Amino acid sequence: MPGGMTAPTSKIPARILVVFGTRPEAIKMFPVIHALKADPRFECVVCVSAQHRQMLDQVLEIAGIVPDHDLDVMQPDQTLDALTANLLTGLGKVMDAARPDRVIVQGDTATAMAGALAAYYRKLPVDHVEAGLRSSNIYHPWPEEVNRKIIGAMASLHFAPTETSRNALVKENVDPARVHVTGNTVIDALHWVTAEIEREPSLAAGLAELETRFSGKRIIGVTSHRRENFGEGMEQIAAAIRTIAERPDTAVIFPVHLNPNVRKVMNERLSGLDNVALIEPLDYPHFARLLAIAEIMLTDSGGVQEEAPALGKPVLVMRETTERPEGVAAGTAKLVGTSAETIVSEISTLLDDREAYEAMARAHNPFGDGQTSRRIVELLADEIRHQA
Ligand code: UD1
Ligand code: UDP
Repeated sequence: MPGGMTAPTSKIPARILVVFGTRPEAIKMFPVIHALKADPRFECVVCVSAQHRQMLDQVLEIAGIVPDHDLDVMQPDQTLDALTANLLTGLGKVMDAARPDRVIVQGDTATAMAGALAAYYRKLPVDHVEAGLRSSNIYHPWPEEVNRKIIGAMASLHFAPTETSRNALVKENVDPARVHVTGNTVIDALHWVTAEIEREPSLAAGLAELETRFSGKRIIGVTSHRRENFGEGMEQIAAAIRTIAERPDTAVIFPVHLNPNVRKVMNERLSGLDNVALIEPLDYPHFARLLAIAEIMLTDSGGVQEEAPALGKPVLVMRETTERPEGVAAGTAKLVGTSAETIVSEISTLLDDREAYEAMARAHNPFGDGQTSRRIVELLADEIRHQA
């Protein structure tokens, strides 16, 4: 057994507790939940920490997921200490009540880390979706790099999106037999939402007014929320957007994250500009629409670095390092840091140099083919069979 765990039960259906709490985890876990719920070999129990509230609920509603357990832990401007303490005790209680055979967590949030730790304290096997992402800098992104290393130390099955992430785990002495390259479930989510919009276009029609207002302009989609960018980083990002928005041919659509450390700066610096739309967080179909109409994405988000390459959208990443080098290697993503001057210069190059733009605007699929959830479910079924 990995990490000296006790043998899990092998009963069928196996009870799988899926734990998540933020918007990106919900987006990346709903395809797995759909697949588990459709499979008679599993009983899928969903626990949300609600580390995010509104931004989580937006995804739950679109994906049709009604949690079995909801810890409702979110507090305004929550600290990492209080959040982590509440998550650990709350998730532990749910595990004691739900008595799962296995637990699944995704990514590198406080919820994922606390969920893995609570499972480990109960000697429950915990499986990690999106395993092995590493920037090799514990402060970039902060605190996610350490969260995912902690999960990696405890996980039973590691579902690595790419060979790069698999290799990172093997380098850390994780048993290679426990690491599976599956792709990233975000591509499953993107395919699912695209099909939903095709079936029902009104799901993504809410941007029509902005599309009319900015008709004829070149749209830049922006998202930003990284803790390590709070303060000076956010000020620089806002300054860059102000300068770009002076161009009459360009418009910025920026759904602003609900973290007050982001909103305060962006509202103060960017409100009322003709070429900038600061809007509320978009639900996933509308964000997919933004990805479709944007010429360039400017972001410090993890998920957007995966979605943009799949769609052939150049993505400028406002970070010093990335744990997703695949988009950079494919040429669709570029690290630009958070200096206003560099951001403006990189955007101007993409807007003014057709060749530079075309070189980045090629669809690549380094993060999967949309079949990741199916693979994960089969690997879980194999695991349970082998325990029998
Ligand atoms: C969290 C994750 C980060 C992830 C990001 C995705 C941690 C430590 N951070 O960062 O890894 O990349 O989510 O977006 O796990 N808020 C609301 N409503 C919401 C969501 C947030 O009001 O629906 C506000 C609250 O004031 C909350 C604050 O944002 O306290 C911060 O939320 P938190 O989950 O602690 O951190 P994020 O910066 O969102
Ligand atoms: N997203 C969304 N609405 C928005 C902004 C982003 O649905 O207004 C989606 C986006 O498509 C991606 C995910 O949220 O899948 C990224 O979340 P976030 O940037 O909050 O977190 P990260 O990926 O950096 O952890």
